[in-house]
Amino acid sequence: MNITGNTIFIPGATSGIGLALAIQLQSRGNTVIVGGRRTDLLHQIATDHPGIDTVQIDTTDADSIRSATMQVIAAHPHLNVLIAMAGIMRIEDWHSARGFLEQAESTVTTNLLGPIRLIGELIEHLQRQPDATIVTVSSGLAFAPLAVTPTYNATKAAIHMLSESIRLQLADTTVKVVELVPPAVRTALLPGQQESPVAMPLDEFVDEVMYLIENNPGANEIQVERVGFLRFGEARGDYDQVVAVLNGSDPH
Ligand SMILES: NC(=O)c1ccc[n+]([C@@H]2O[C@H](COP(=O)([O-])OP(=O)(O)OC[C@H]3O[C@@H](n4cnc5c(N)ncnc54)[C@H](OP(=O)(O)O)[C@@H]3O)[C@@H](O)[C@H]2O)c1
Repeated sequence: MNITGNTIFIPGATSGIGLALAIQLQSRGNTVIVGGRRTDLLHQIATDHPGIDTVQIDTTDADSIRSATMQVIAAHPHLNVLIAMAGIMRIEDWHSARGFLEQAESTVTTNLLGPIRLIGELIEHLQRQPDATIVTVSSGLAFAPLAVTPTYNATKAAIHMLSESIRLQLADTTVKVVELVPPAVRTALLPGQQESPVAMPLDEFVDEVMYLIENNPGANEIQVERVGFLRFGEARGDYDQVVAVLNGSDPH
């Protein structure tokens, strides 16, 4: 993906990683459209960042995805990049259904079905563009499990394999598939995460992502250095220790 000159739709950018990326991408000469459910934040973003367009979208709702994507294409016919950012992370207790089932269903609908439906609405349009990119958003937790968030980990592992698979199918088109693999980053994704000393500061993360896009535009995955610990545990052969450290049970 080129760092400049794109028209980029980011559903899931009213806060956190999506918003920080939207601001950076706009400053590098891209047209950016931010999506999300919270209209107060959408209005604030439009006021604070003239030129960034906004659209209300609930990515758990197929009708909302359809009308929002139609609205974006009508206003921005050169749309050539989708960053499927919207996601939720819920703590679950799998000892009984009441401890996890509702959270698990919402997580699958938001984190997995949402990106699938978004791609479904946009894939034909993207193939008509001379150069297009779908950016999926997985996580280091796609590669090593955090015990308290089973369905989150599973949806992110699914996003990884979905990205690998559709990249193969779409190799005969103008559409590239790039997977953003964040480590823990200081956002409001989980309560307390914005202050977490083990999470990466948001501005550092986004600066490194921009550096990687600029310096390695053909990469299939955007991996900041910090995510390597989780991403490559199995390949390095220290997966068990990675899982123990991640879950606070490492004896060292
Ligand atoms: N922070 C981390 O440590 C980390 C690590 C790995 C991966 N990630 C991934 O990065 C992505 C962004 O998360 P974040 O950390 O930036 O957290 P965040 O600040 O909570 O941002 C989540 C964004 O997703 C949007 N969203 C959630 N549900 C939605 C829905 N049904 N429809 C439309 N938008 C929805 C939210 O907007 P509204 O509430 O306005 O709808 C918000 O803009 C997620 O996919 C997350 O899994 C984050």
